[in-house]
Amino acid sequence: MKNIDEISKERAKKLFGSQKIEEIKIGTTEGLQQIHEYLFGGLCDFAGKIREKNISKGGFRFASHMYLNESLNMIEKMPNDTFEQIVAKYVEMNIAHPFMEGNGRSMRIWLDLILKENLKRCIDWAKIDKANYINAMQRSPVSDLEIRELLRFALTDKIDDREVFMKGIEQSYYYEE
Ligand SMILES: Nc1ncnc2c1ncn2[C@@H]1O[C@H](COP(=O)(O)OP(=O)(O)O)[C@@H](O)[C@H]1O
Ligand SMILES: [Mg+2]
Repeated sequence: MKNIDEISKERAKKLFGSQKIEEIKIGTTEGLQQIHEYLFGGLCDFAGKIREKNISKGGFRFASHMYLNESLNMIEKMPNDTFEQIVAKYVEMNIAHPFMEGNGRSMRIWLDLILKENLKRCIDWAKIDKANYINAMQRSPVSDLEIRELLRFALTDKIDDREVFMKGIEQSYYYEE
């Protein structure tokens, strides 16, 4: 029997070239909720839902649920014009961590859509090592320098390349194993 992660990964792969991906509201909280709902709908009871509890990881406390909506409203208004701005927005969204689980996998798709729309680029996730990625994300609330440089190194203009997309999903799910 397939587990939740396997089912979710198959769904993520089906996004490539789909009508569904066209419907996502790029760069917004609602868009991130659409992605989360698509990946985890029916697999957990909080798919697409903003959390109402506080959570932490590795000693880092993500945004308090009491200020989460306010915080998400601010983040979606952050500009998407340059690579640096987009990374800053991604890092802030990670600090918000709006869902109980599945933030990493949803947010990497969300990031790629912003990059694609605004810069005609996306991330070739296969080029970013798991340990380096996790370390850089752990560091990111203090400084986004490391994650910015990792992402910059992996930028590609192959935005419509099936293989880049599929390997990217594989890598994204592997980060969270
Ligand atoms: N200590 C940390 N501080 C800040 N962000 C972190 C930390 N550890 C992990 N992260 C980020 O959180 C993501 C995992 O969040 P999670 O909600 O578990 O998503 P998923 O279920 O998709 O793995 C990682 O991909 C990383 O971006
Ligand atoms: Mg997780």
